[in-house]
Amino acid sequence: MNKNELLKVAVKARNNAYAPYSHFKVGAAILAKNGKVYSGCNIENSSYGASICAERVALFKAVSEGEKEFLAIAIATDTKKPVMPCGICRQVLSEFAPNLKIYAINIDGKVKEALLDQILPDAFTKEDLEDIK
Ligand code: THU
Repeated sequence: MNKNELLKVAVKARNNAYAPYSHFKVGAAILAKNGKVYSGCNIENSSYGASICAERVALFKAVSEGEKEFLAIAIATDTKKPVMPCGICRQVLSEFAPNLKIYAINIDGKVKEALLDQILPDAFTKEDLEDIK
């Protein structure tokens, strides 16, 4: 699966977004090392804090199917500029793939790319947890 195919899966997944509160629909698609792709969309809740981002839905679907290694994630929004994952999603993604490639696309087809360790430098990790004095 190449970058454009992954972006297409994210754009399609955005159609399933449940965002009646923010009206901000997001789609995501994460590519596991074995080539399988898992899609996700944001799912909001009347108890706003119970909402979840598209990126974490895609990742959690994959992890729940036994995946632990990932190559790339694509994110689709209907914004003027493509958007990068929120801080919580950056942290959660870095647990499994600190070097993850990120491809963000808007509905006009504009793409922005980054590496997770560029947008989450000096991430807190499980090694930090083992460093208690
Ligand atoms: N959201 C995502 O799904 N991914 C992002 O990268 C940013 C924010 C969702 C969460 C919420 O449902 C809505 O967009 C507005 O924050």
